[in-house]
Amino acid sequence: MKILLNDNYKNLKKNYLFSEIGARVRAYSEAHPDANIVRLGIGDVTLPLTKSVTVAMAKAVAEMADKATFRGYSPEYGYDFLIRAIANHYKRYGVTLACDEIFVSDGAKSDVGNITELFGDNPVLIPDPVYPVYLDSNIMAGRRVSFLRAGEENGFLPTPEGLSGEGYIIYICSPNNPTGAVYDRAGLSEWVNFATASGSLIIFDNAYEAYINGDYPHSIYEIEGARGCAIEICSFSKTAGFTGTRCSWTVVPRELSSGGVSLCEMWGRRQATKFNGVPYVVQRGAEAALSDEGFRECRELVGYYMENAALISGVMRDKGIYFTGGTSSPYIWMKCPDGCPSWTFFDKLLSEAEVVGTPGAGFGACGEGYFRLTSFGSREATEEAVRRLYKFL
Ligand code: MLT
Repeated sequence: MKILLNDNYKNLKKNYLFSEIGARVRAYSEAHPDANIVRLGIGDVTLPLTKSVTVAMAKAVAEMADKATFRGYSPEYGYDFLIRAIANHYKRYGVTLACDEIFVSDGAKSDVGNITELFGDNPVLIPDPVYPVYLDSNIMAGRRVSFLRAGEENGFLPTPEGLSGEGYIIYICSPNNPTGAVYDRAGLSEWVNFATASGSLIIFDNAYEAYINGDYPHSIYEIEGARGCAIEICSFSKTAGFTGTRCSWTVVPRELSSGGVSLCEMWGRRQATKFNGVPYVVQRGAEAALSDEGFRECRELVGYYMENAALISGVMRDKGIYFTGGTSSPYIWMKCPDGCPSWTFFDKLLSEAEVVGTPGAGFGACGEGYFRLTSFGSREATEEAVRRLYKFL
């Protein structure tokens, strides 16, 4: 062929983090067909959808089977019923949003990647360690990326102190994936103030909001000034068990504009052109997850995973291993013993205990020497992993 390709892809690591883990686990399984592997790697939920959600979905399926109530394409930004449910959900946190600022989508991962299309060649600030999609999608777009170093010294919560310059795209994930660190109001206000003063935009990844335990903001819009500098992306995946069902939303406040151009209109234009909506059945399920009863059921899902987190955290405490997370986050972020590099630890844990986790280095250079375990497994799998971890560590 003679077509020109996007050379930026040459700057990516060969595999996406979770594909690399999948490949290594497959190779191990092929070499050890009798292996009994416990998977605490990718943060994929294991509890089924809740009653409210499945009842609503079943009703929606029946509507789709009836000529009188069948639906074709979804409205491009989501059905009004779901958008209203999302706006009402924000009222739980004292946040008021207009319905035309909310865009329903098929996943926070997709929106985090796709939102980069709205921007020109701005400098990008990405926490390190963090969810790898921020970095990979900006590498694909050929942007200049700098890292906000996070470590034990700053509680894995970088601040804007010492930053100069303007017009940054700044990523914040709170509660953070992978470290579980969560910004309080003062910490988030510092970022909002910096973004406002420097003409920057915050992309706030709120996928783990449901895991917050304590007096922390559940939305960046709880912070004064955030409507003028922040986009928020949230998901039903970890809250309502929708990793396989796919539904999320992105909030782009009307106040956001640059050079007289509205970001809300741009995102609407982008979605209308390239996205054809989330299935009706799924949106009905998502609506039900945000109802009072659905919300209560989701709290139970979260409670179950947090009990798993307590079991894993218990191993770390008993073994005297430094860790974060597990309180406002479904992830345990542990320090690899004896300074072991994180991929080496991954391979040892897989081959010696047949437990899969996620190497810290996969979340950025500052993640080297750490390791992430997810609490999204079943109770049985988590208990088995705990037994093996006690022996292994
Ligand atoms: C993770 O394990 O970090 C997440 O499950 C990945 C994702 O949400 O895409």
